[in-house]
Amino acid sequence: MTLLNSEAVKLGSLTLLLAPAMSRTLFVTTALPYANGSFHIGHIMEYIQADIWVRSMRMAGHTVHFVGADDTHGAPIMLKAEAEGITPKQLVERIGAERPQYLQGFQIEFDHWHSTDSAENVELSQDIYRKLRAAGLINTREIEQFYDPVKGMFLADRYIKGECPKCHAKDQYGDSCEACGAVYAPTDLIEPYSTLTKARPVLKTSEHYFFQLSDPRCIEFLQQWTSGSNAQGNKHLQAEVLAKTREWLGSGDEKANLGDWDISRDAPYFGIEIPDAPGKYFYVWLDAPVGYLASLKSYCAKIGLDFEALLDPNGTTEQVHFIGKDIVYFHALFWPATLQFSGRKTPDQLNVHGFITVSGEKMSKSRGTGISPLRYLELGMNAEWMRYYIAAKLNARVEDIDFNPDDFIARVNSDLVGKYINIASRAANFISKYFDGQLAYPDDAALLGSNWAQAADRIRTDLEAREYGRAIREIMAHADQINQAFDAAQPWLIAKTLASAEPSQRAALQHICSSALAGFKALSVMLAPILPALSQRVATELFGQTSNFVWVDAGLLPSQINPFKHLMQRVEPTMLDGLFEIPAATQDQQPAGALTAASNLADASAVAPGGEPLAPIITIDDFVKIDLRVARIVNCEQVEGSTKLLRLTLDVGEGRLRNVFSGIKSAYTPEQLIGRLTVVVANLAPRKMKFGISEGMVLAASHFDPTIDTGIYVLDPSSGAHPGMRIH
Ligand code: MSP
Ligand code: ZN
Repeated sequence: MTLLNSEAVKLGSLTLLLAPAMSRTLFVTTALPYANGSFHIGHIMEYIQADIWVRSMRMAGHTVHFVGADDTHGAPIMLKAEAEGITPKQLVERIGAERPQYLQGFQIEFDHWHSTDSAENVELSQDIYRKLRAAGLINTREIEQFYDPVKGMFLADRYIKGECPKCHAKDQYGDSCEACGAVYAPTDLIEPYSTLTKARPVLKTSEHYFFQLSDPRCIEFLQQWTSGSNAQGNKHLQAEVLAKTREWLGSGDEKANLGDWDISRDAPYFGIEIPDAPGKYFYVWLDAPVGYLASLKSYCAKIGLDFEALLDPNGTTEQVHFIGKDIVYFHALFWPATLQFSGRKTPDQLNVHGFITVSGEKMSKSRGTGISPLRYLELGMNAEWMRYYIAAKLNARVEDIDFNPDDFIARVNSDLVGKYINIASRAANFISKYFDGQLAYPDDAALLGSNWAQAADRIRTDLEAREYGRAIREIMAHADQINQAFDAAQPWLIAKTLASAEPSQRAALQHICSSALAGFKALSVMLAPILPALSQRVATELFGQTSNFVWVDAGLLPSQINPFKHLMQRVEPTMLDGLFEIPAATQDQQPAGALTAASNLADASAVAPGGEPLAPIITIDDFVKIDLRVARIVNCEQVEGSTKLLRLTLDVGEGRLRNVFSGIKSAYTPEQLIGRLTVVVANLAPRKMKFGISEGMVLAASHFDPTIDTGIYVLDPSSGAHPGMRIH
């Protein structure tokens, strides 16, 4: 490559990418997970979405402060801790200690992880409350509510059950009936009872504190804010989220139907005390989003930033929240109003995603069709497969996405590995072998560089708009083109006769491979936010860069490579079998489908083969502990005094005979069995029975329910097997 060319390459791409970029400062959060449980795949999906966005913004040169925290307060956490005999703080601490292994495992790089049970959050929440009060937006009212006289505690709806007033189904929750769908107040329940103590709740009045969202100032502000945009021209809300808020808020002259918000809870409550209100605590949803600020504040203290200046209401920092569709109400109404009327900066962008389902089923902790993120990692599955797969499915709308095992395998193996990784493994070897790692381009190299720079710019724009699926489709289309061009040029044919080849052919080989590798580098830049560890290896190991990829790298043609090292494994389909969660509580009744094959999940709940759900899953290590052998039944006789047993004399190929009792008398006469082969559990501890010692167990099949008498069937191996052979 001539000097002239290389300058042109640099100029071509640099001018293109550097011109429009203005450095922005972003404060990015994800919803704060409840600290009463471990992360599930829904959390991980949200973090992956946000992490990709953050990484892409950083690669563009923007400054991002990306923080999370545990949401620690509220009745469920208090009660769970109590049930475990520990304090809420201990529970929260235990859950908090688990977080890093998930986050690191999935390459999710929060700058800081904090807790709503922190000094910063107490101070900020109380400060915000005082400002709201000073603004005349807090009032109090007596409300009448169910109270558990045994527990000494007011009961949230979910802790009250009773008979549905409409269809009379028993044990329905306090707010709605799962049987007929009726919606009602807990006081409408027939024979209500507290789920905590089974006591009959009594009505009791208490003074509650309200944030007056129905105040015209709030309504007006929210109507403006929800339909507004930030300085970048990005709408605060996605179209469908805005539509939802309009249902709540009304628009134009339409009347809002926004009630005041009850922000207090009575002791006992694990939460933050309301100033000047003894025995009253903030409802968890008041202090939870303040936790975003608390986490940032704690981070600022750590790195020496001025928190208040960073979030100056008139400043330029953009505040961006990633959340799921179930908590829009809190984030699109309560939260902006809370910030606005306490004189703080309001959010700039609310990025709402749908839910992840597994094989088309809603995740349910009790039914256990979720994927355990930790098990995923423990199985040695690559976090970047998941990041890639989730990214490929995401778009900017509030749509649910589905984790489908077959689709997962296909996308990772055929697209990610088969198309993208494949480029490098094919092209790099020729360059290392014949050109000592040196790349060279044909004369239109400048164009090649600027094409890649432009393509990368489109991907960057898609990622900023959270159109990840579209970005990945385009990236894979590029990968297809690169592979096709490579195939069409048939470099392997040139390589075969290289010793006798013309210099022009030798140059052609180098050009073909170099162009493919320049494409591979550009695609690696584009995929860097999605595949951080892989792209780092590509940057440093293959292309010898000293730093990670940034967006401008896409248009800079590489001039040399190091020898190619294996980059990514394919998914082994069997890995997915071990991935599906079996909840501890329901393990005993776990249906067959969920245990064996991921794709059977949908119809799993109805399955109980042979009248009996499958036993909890075991590993191969468990199985090999059971030594099953072929045995010959050399003798069989009745057992005097037993209605069930037959005495078998077995040859298990040991040079001695074994005595085994078997409960198969109802199905066989001794004559039917003598001489037959069967299968015996050969390493079962000998058991002393009333009639003698049993030295093993013969395998036989029967229906689980003894009242369904469909017979007993002794197992026999196919003919040709010998006593003593092991069954694997
Ligand atoms: N603690 C509240 C949020 C407080 S934010 C100030 C909460 N916690 S949560 O643990 O239930 O949920 C945390 C996030 O995970 C939410 O954004 C929620 O929408 C998201 N998800 C929960 N289940 C999900 C899926 N199945 N799929 C995708 N995201 C899901 O809500
Ligand atoms: Zn009902």
